[in-house]
Amino acid sequence: MAKKKTSKSTKSKKLSEAQIAVHWKEEDIVHPSPQFVAQANMTDPGIYDRFSLDNFPECFKEYADLLDWYEYWHTMLDTSDAPCWKWFVGGKINASYNCVDRHLPKYKNKAAIHFVPEPEEEPPAAISYQELYVRVNEFAALLRDFAGLKKGDRVTLHMPMTPELPVTMLACARLGVIHSEVFGGFSGQACADRIVDSGSNVLITMDGYYRGGNMIDHKVNADIAFEHAKKQGQKVDKVLIWQRYTGQYQSESKPVKGRDYIVNDVLKDYVGQRIDPVKLPAEDPLFLMYTSGTTGKPKGCQHSIGGYLAYVAGTSKYIQDIHPEDVYWCMADIGWITGHSYIVYGPLALAASSVIYEGVPVYPDPGRPWRIAERLDVNIFHTAPTTVRMLRKAGPDEPKKYNYHFKHMTTVGEPIEPEVWRWYHKEVGKGEAIIVDTWWQTETGGFLCSTMPALQPMKPGSTGPALPGIHPVIFDEDRNELGAGAGKAGNICIRNPWPGAFQTIWGDRERYVDTYYAKYCKDPKSKDWRDWPYLTGDGALLAEDGYYRILGRIDDVINVAGHRLGTKELESSALTVGDIAEAAVVPVVDELKGRVPDIYVSLKPGVKDGKAVQAKVVKAIESEIGKIARPKNVYVVPDMPKTRSGKIMRRVLAAISNTLDIGDVMTLANPDIVEEIRVLVQGKEKVAIKKGPEDIERFGDEG
Ligand code: WT7
Repeated sequence: MAKKKTSKSTKSKKLSEAQIAVHWKEEDIVHPSPQFVAQANMTDPGIYDRFSLDNFPECFKEYADLLDWYEYWHTMLDTSDAPCWKWFVGGKINASYNCVDRHLPKYKNKAAIHFVPEPEEEPPAAISYQELYVRVNEFAALLRDFAGLKKGDRVTLHMPMTPELPVTMLACARLGVIHSEVFGGFSGQACADRIVDSGSNVLITMDGYYRGGNMIDHKVNADIAFEHAKKQGQKVDKVLIWQRYTGQYQSESKPVKGRDYIVNDVLKDYVGQRIDPVKLPAEDPLFLMYTSGTTGKPKGCQHSIGGYLAYVAGTSKYIQDIHPEDVYWCMADIGWITGHSYIVYGPLALAASSVIYEGVPVYPDPGRPWRIAERLDVNIFHTAPTTVRMLRKAGPDEPKKYNYHFKHMTTVGEPIEPEVWRWYHKEVGKGEAIIVDTWWQTETGGFLCSTMPALQPMKPGSTGPALPGIHPVIFDEDRNELGAGAGKAGNICIRNPWPGAFQTIWGDRERYVDTYYAKYCKDPKSKDWRDWPYLTGDGALLAEDGYYRILGRIDDVINVAGHRLGTKELESSALTVGDIAEAAVVPVVDELKGRVPDIYVSLKPGVKDGKAVQAKVVKAIESEIGKIARPKNVYVVPDMPKTRSGKIMRRVLAAISNTLDIGDVMTLANPDIVEEIRVLVQGKEKVAIKKGPEDIERFGDEG
């Protein structure tokens, strides 16, 4: 637990160099209000002792006991296949049962989901636990008997933010079918890659949905996904299409006979059916969630049923402070891990009412989220810094106009700037709500660091101490530990396994071991978890008071609006444009999204029309990955700055894009090109050099 220390004493200390380098001044701490503490789920500081390393791994029984088990496990943690950890071995469980059926005796008449359509004239729709039970059962019957899906099969979902998405996930979970939801904003091609990698024969999609005031034709992406998957040798047999409005088909693309089926038509045959939840081994996979890495294709993070569900239930209860009577709104997309863990599985495991908003936060105006909060009487709110920045910019005084009251708010996905934190606290939280800054990853299933809301004070811009049962360590390159107050940043790792951690990368154990464990593993043959610290890939430093400050990714991954995009993926989609010889992607600071990609391209000999190429690059990226990856700028350069061995110096390009100090370039093979590119990007006049955020200053560094 964080040692009590006033910020004054830390403030008066001379800043170390590393602290200056990360522009970190200690912020004043903010205490949770007594009203919050009075109602919180966890007010016992003893929890940190109960979850100490001495009590590991047995401590996690406390989380597992939040769930209903068909059979209790015999082995808490099995390390025999290190570092593929198995939790609750011998246990039998079903996630759909835990999120739906078991709540019926007490809560069948309570809203499980509040669906808020984007068009404001369409009223919110509440789906009770009983209604969710019916829909999940009927769709599970369809999946089993019409689509022929069974335990262990993978199915790809490419669905927007409507209740049909959790219904589909829970129906899969009921059968032991492994779902792999692809963010609805991703392109058909990105969806195809995930269909191929997971080996899905069934694709579940929706005809259309609202975004920014328009009905988006989404089914067209299924056609693209089908074709691209087929080209890569993966045949999709059935495409199941939900309808945004039952009976009214929204897409230009007509269903293909013998392949495409309108779910609402087929469902008529399954009305009233009930499917017994399959009693599954705790360590069976529940779902795959793809995420970007440094090289190559996206990684399918495989999450387990028992460990994952126990971890998201426990952290939803204590860190999100969800009680059954709360109205909880996480404004993430279910297509990301945040939505899986903290819109669907965590809250529903606790019988909460979870809000699903279909559209854009600022549609039709920046007062929209606060009107939703007022109307549904939301009291727990969860979003990302990028959205907070957007709402603050578009409507700084909007929250005041509405009569809602949050007790609790979350920020997630990237570091939040202290000024933005303070606006969130004062204006959105009306000075009443506590804030948790939750640091975690797709791979980790649930939160790793955050303040315990009723126990610990908040420090704007810092995630806080580690969660109970999570034991981080910061290593430098030589495996020296950088302790509290070291004043230096290093690679933050987690010493111990925890139940929410992913089990492996789907179909690529070697990559799993290499990426996350090889760097600091003491002995690759060891079966002892102590020898296998988990490498998060983030840089961080630990303050004297035990609060972690996360600096961002240390690999070539760009965090756009709180989500990881691989630079290599972006570069290879730019290279699909035939006129391009080379492409290099670098992150550039963006006021709203945090970081966005800038792309530098050089053309093949003889290609003249740079403007046309720029447009083609943008199009290629949008269609291969999705609009989220759209570059801020595409610069056509005569050549790339290169080392003598021919490596593109991305560090130099990042410095130019962000007007940072370019440093010494005389060792390059072509030093003159640097000034030429600088003029192209910044103009002839020299502009004042800034000091950039740590992740940008460091971007492209070797070693
Ligand atoms: C990366 C993970 C966590 C679910 C959504 C994103 C960054 C995440 C924080 C935070 C500073 C954060 C890290 C991490 N990150 N939360 N509270 N403070 N940085 O999941 O796409 O897997 O990205 O997001 O760099 O490694 P993801």
